[in-house]
Amino acid sequence: MVSRPLQSHLAQVFAQYPIEVAHGEGVWLYARDGRKILDFYGGHAVAGLGYGHPRWVAALERQARQMTFQTNALPMAIRERAAARLAKFAGLGLDTVFWVNSGAEANENALRLAFKITGRGKTVALEHGWHGRTAAAGAVTWGALEKWYGFPRTPFDVKFLPRDQPAAAQRMVDRDTAAVIVEPIQGMGGAYDVGKPMLQALRRRCDEVGAVLIFDEVQCGMGRTGAPFGANYHGVVPDVVTAAKALGNGFPVSALLLSPRVARELKVDDMGTTFGGGPIACAAAEAVIEIIESESLLANVRQVSTYIRSTCVIGPVTGVQGAGFLLGLKTSRPAKEVQSALLERNILTGTSADPAVLRLLPAYILNEGHVDQLHDALSKIPA
Ligand SMILES: Cc1ncc(COP(=O)(O)O)c(C=O)c1O
Repeated sequence: MVSRPLQSHLAQVFAQYPIEVAHGEGVWLYARDGRKILDFYGGHAVAGLGYGHPRWVAALERQARQMTFQTNALPMAIRERAAARLAKFAGLGLDTVFWVNSGAEANENALRLAFKITGRGKTVALEHGWHGRTAAAGAVTWGALEKWYGFPRTPFDVKFLPRDQPAAAQRMVDRDTAAVIVEPIQGMGGAYDVGKPMLQALRRRCDEVGAVLIFDEVQCGMGRTGAPFGANYHGVVPDVVTAAKALGNGFPVSALLLSPRVARELKVDDMGTTFGGGPIACAAAEAVIEIIESESLLANVRQVSTYIRSTCVIGPVTGVQGAGFLLGLKTSRPAKEVQSALLERNILTGTSADPAVLRLLPAYILNEGHVDQLHDALSKIPA
């Protein structure tokens, strides 16, 4: 990591990788100094289709020419079409869509709906979960209060449930609980699959006490597991799914997918947004789903993920966790050291809150040849 030059006008809040990106194509980043870098990080799980996919670019260009922006108060076909396509892609029976702009905003609205519907004041989240930087999303993010939260108090009570103890759901989720929020496969928490037994235990307990179950699929959704969502991957259906990141492939867009139970409580003005549901954002989401389906990218994610698992436990890598293209390579040395050594070999990867997990979040178009390059680089790094 390097720091920005002192004359930068940008807020100095991001540690910086030593690459200045000039452009990208597919899974490749081209740096201003001439380096060509294989990207296993995808702009933090955003570039699901890779960079510059021609049909995604064409969809944005077409929509920009036709109508760049209109308020939600004016009906538009593209907004309806993208919502229908997203609900069908998910196939979970969560058929009502509310468009917003970022992952945190989607979670903020999901939590607000849960409080409104239940009239209760408490939430349960999982240890090591990450849900965003707004007041409510930050409140349910593990460790945020100690590290960066900043607000004088959280807007509601939160209990954190150990991520490997499904039995604790019975005890911690009670009749005062408005919402349980969980990432089916945790991203920042180290590409950690919380697993079907945990999700089933939460579903069962939420049904017993009438709490709203929210799956934060901002990172693990939109095909990243090789299934449309983590909910499909584990066969557990929540009341609300939130999606962002790969949903727009880089154009900012996020969404809430709502069950009939939640949707039927909605009244005009319960939620709102200026930019959410903008036509270019919706065209981006529609194009992403169309491309994932027409290019059989879910099958590719499953196949190449299996290949990573079978070939990349080598050098400093002692094991693999996670699902699909949200993978954590467990490392015998600090993951940051392995990340730096890979970058010296022109391969970009991510880290996580777990110092011994290197995170892979590649584009869904990655192939086995690219994985061979990662394997070769890892084999040259000492354990
Ligand atoms: C699981 C999860 N939820 C929410 C967020 C917040 O999304 P955003 O940064 O778009 O607000 C993130 C971001 O990394 C995330 O990984």
